[in-house]
Amino acid sequence: MSKALEGVKILDFTHVQSGPTCTQLLAWFGADVIKVERPGEGDATRGQLRDIPDVDSLYFTMLNHNKRSITLNTKSNKGKDVLVKLIQHCDVLVENFAPGALDRMGFSWERIQEINPRMILASIKGFGPGPYVDCKVYENVAQCTGGAASTTGDPNGIPMVTGAQIGDSGTGLHLALGIVTALFHREKSGRGQRVTAAMQDAVLNLCRVKLRDQQRLDRTQVLKEYPQYPEIEFGDAVPRAGNASGGGQPGAILKCKGWQKDPNAYIYFITQAAVWSDICKIIGEEGWITNPSYATPEARLPHLKMIFARIEEWTKTKTKFEAMDILNEFDIPCGPILSMKEISDDKSLRATGTVVEVDHPTRGKYLTVGNPIKLSDSPTEVTRSPLLGEHSGEILSILGYSATEIAQLKGERVV
Ligand code: COA
Repeated sequence: MSKALEGVKILDFTHVQSGPTCTQLLAWFGADVIKVERPGEGDATRGQLRDIPDVDSLYFTMLNHNKRSITLNTKSNKGKDVLVKLIQHCDVLVENFAPGALDRMGFSWERIQEINPRMILASIKGFGPGPYVDCKVYENVAQCTGGAASTTGDPNGIPMVTGAQIGDSGTGLHLALGIVTALFHREKSGRGQRVTAAMQDAVLNLCRVKLRDQQRLDRTQVLKEYPQYPEIEFGDAVPRAGNASGGGQPGAILKCKGWQKDPNAYIYFITQAAVWSDICKIIGEEGWITNPSYATPEARLPHLKMIFARIEEWTKTKTKFEAMDILNEFDIPCGPILSMKEISDDKSLRATGTVVEVDHPTRGKYLTVGNPIKLSDSPTEVTRSPLLGEHSGEILSILGYSATEIAQLKGERVV
């Protein structure tokens, strides 16, 4: 069975996390991804957070599956010649260098278009045009500047970043969509185009509901779904809402049986309006079904803390999985707080290929997150990440270099 992006050739100039997430997705959809790395060192993440000496780190292997690796010094003249051939050979160049690095290398967008007018140039930068356009950016800077940190955390605490890599992997996802859209457009226009995704913009896009709340606050000076209501006066910016959903269906994290010893013995519980009467019956508060102080979502808003405290009295008598089973029978939306240990052992995630075991020649077996996007006619097979420069010879030979020329380039440390 052919893969959805079979035949699409990606020149992968990405490093660290944001760009590699994007090109890994394209590889999983069937594109031929050629990762270009500096001779000798390669992507810095190969050597970061190592758990086994001299072996590619999990950080690298988990972001670079299904790719081929060529080493190339793109600052040498011979390296630039090879790069020109790669640009002619490929459909998309993806990069997440610091601002201006590609230009300094001598490959501006104008030059790339001269070499290959069908080429799509896709870039991730920290910021779009504006005061910070030249800044280097890592994950947490994007979370802070995109509105996530100011709206995340304890209502009385400092701004908080989340473990979900919304700045890096989130932007990589956005860029991947831009690339396939540009490829689709190229079918009609015959031309490539520039695709850019700024990390600040991507985080803000994921924080869209908080900009919604900012405007609601501006107009009404109150956010009744937030834990500050009704005791604490609101300021002029959306506050941190703790674990409250802050949306139309109030939710909270509640203790379950064993919480005193297990840091993850909790459940997220949503008091969806449609199942309010079932919730009341389960916790033994049938009177709340008709009591005017609790009967409607609006009436419940000032009492949410007390309501969740009462529900917690019930959840504390069940394990998070027992509570999940009981609540699901009544279609009450809830979810156990799963640890990474529990997730890595989860049989259903293994069965769907969302958690995959991969074998690596120097590391041995390890777990990774497979493709979360499932295509019925183009299933993903996760294959290991390449060793540094593993495919240099075969890629140079596809570009037309002879065995003697390849040996020369290797001898001169161009590849
Ligand atoms: N051959 C020769 N030189 C190469 C090369 C190659 N194959 N690959 C990279 N280089 C050079 C670059 O041209 C650049 O040189 P220059 O500074 O002289 O122009 C140099 O390596 C360093 O690249 P840079 O991107 O600046 O790396 P960095 O480690 O200093 O910064 C980031 C890392 C992530 C902060 C930066 O790349 C960045 O801000 N990227 C955009 C935002 C982003 O994606 N951030 C999230 C990362 S997860």
